[in-house]
Amino acid sequence: MNIESHAITTQVIKKWDQALLFKILDNIQDIVMVLDSNTTIVYINNAYAKILGVSVSKVLGRRLDEIEPNALAIEILRSGVPTHNVRDRLESLGLDVMGSGFPLFEEGKIVGCVSIFNNISEVVELNRDLQRTKEVADYLQHKLNQLEQLPLSFKEYVGRSPALWETLALAAKVAPTDSTVIIRGESGVGKGVLARAIHNGSRRKDKPLIIVNCAAIPEALLESELFGYEEGAFSGAKKGGKLGKFELAHGGTIFLDEIGDMSLNMQAKLLSVVQEKELERLGGTKTIKLDIRIIAATNRDLEKMLAVGSFRQDLYYRLNIVPLYLPPLRERREDILTLAQNFLLQFTEEKEYNVTLSPQVAELLVGYDWPGNVRELQNVMEHASIVESGPQIEVRHLPVNLREGRMEEVQENPYDLKTAVAKFERELIVASLEKNSNNRSVAMTELGLSRSSFYDKLHRYNIKIS
Ligand SMILES: Nc1ncnc2c1ncn2[C@@H]1O[C@H](COP(=O)(O)OP(=O)(O)OP(=O)(O)O)[C@@H](O)[C@H]1O
Ligand SMILES: [Mg+2]
Repeated sequence: MNIESHAITTQVIKKWDQALLFKILDNIQDIVMVLDSNTTIVYINNAYAKILGVSVSKVLGRRLDEIEPNALAIEILRSGVPTHNVRDRLESLGLDVMGSGFPLFEEGKIVGCVSIFNNISEVVELNRDLQRTKEVADYLQHKLNQLEQLPLSFKEYVGRSPALWETLALAAKVAPTDSTVIIRGESGVGKGVLARAIHNGSRRKDKPLIIVNCAAIPEALLESELFGYEEGAFSGAKKGGKLGKFELAHGGTIFLDEIGDMSLNMQAKLLSVVQEKELERLGGTKTIKLDIRIIAATNRDLEKMLAVGSFRQDLYYRLNIVPLYLPPLRERREDILTLAQNFLLQFTEEKEYNVTLSPQVAELLVGYDWPGNVRELQNVMEHASIVESGPQIEVRHLPVNLREGRMEEVQENPYDLKTAVAKFERELIVASLEKNSNNRSVAMTELGLSRSSFYDKLHRYNIKIS
């Protein structure tokens, strides 16, 4: 404003009375609040009641430091520094506001302050919703990326739980390379299935995948099984000799299962093949070059074996280039029902009707600890599909040990107030949503919840709205 127009304005305003000034203030769409030096609210305009829903008489004359001890206006009074477009929160009303404020000086002393602000709760709420939606979108995108990265051959490996992602994504990355891979994990987690998926996801997929179960072959035979022999290598050797598993895998992949069960003597022999990718047959003198990819697997604690000297360190490091860890089923319960349904489909393929799991069975399967992992689940589903006589698997069709587990289940403490209240709250929210055809706004009004606490509860109680 230039000096001239300022002078005109002052002249005009002088002619007006105070009432007119207040009228102007009351028609401003923002809240105008004036405090004296004690933080007493000496003036608020009409917008206050309109925007915050609190009558002017309720606050006028009260001290702000008693109502909102953390309000920005109090800070302005204290510091004498004006603020511009700053976010603040009115804790007493649970509202977010944004505005500006400046101190009033008289003879160099702070005598009060003016605060001009507006309610931005809706914007904050929308922002929060947006943030939540973004998180969901990011999560789904992440999941999609993970799935897209997996080669087709990984379809054989059922289960996409978050606990598996890292392993599957790494397996997918390493599959097309020739790198040595070692798969770790408890018995029955599907190490064999993953090895096949990796082989089928590589350029060697049309060449053989030779599987050697190192634990199942007697020590005396393992060497000739793996390395082959020349005619006359030992008494009883076949005429014409025999190709070993390594040579049979030429161009393809050799899967050395249960490698932790190999003797130290065999480990030493294996080391040179893993290192040099060449071998000599038993009784032979020729060095045979191999084009093979090695995948090993074990459920043994190799690190412990290293410590006690029952696994060779050099072999360990040769094999441990890309370790893939498959978590036990109890650490990825999200996969249980997918796997169960998959097996069920396989075992009931010939039936004319579709066989499904009863809700009680589903609950029991998800809650069980599966010490035998996926293999045990596979056996349970096979058992159930044999004894079932209708389209639904019931609890009575499950093996006794699973049913027993259920009987031993510890009863919840029925006097735990927090759990009981939470349970009741959840039921009430679900009922209200159901009654109102999932209309969230109607449900939240009916329940008397603010938008944010309504959504917080949906999230906390894992209530999904379709
Ligand atoms: N993710 C999976 N998808 C489909 N089938 C699976 C999966 N995991 C395991 N299986 C099935 O479970 C059984 C056990 O799997 P697998 O033999 O691969 O386990 P493992 O980890 O090699 O166990 P072990 O250490 O005892 O040899 C197999 O019949 C396999 O088909
Ligand atoms: Mg196996």
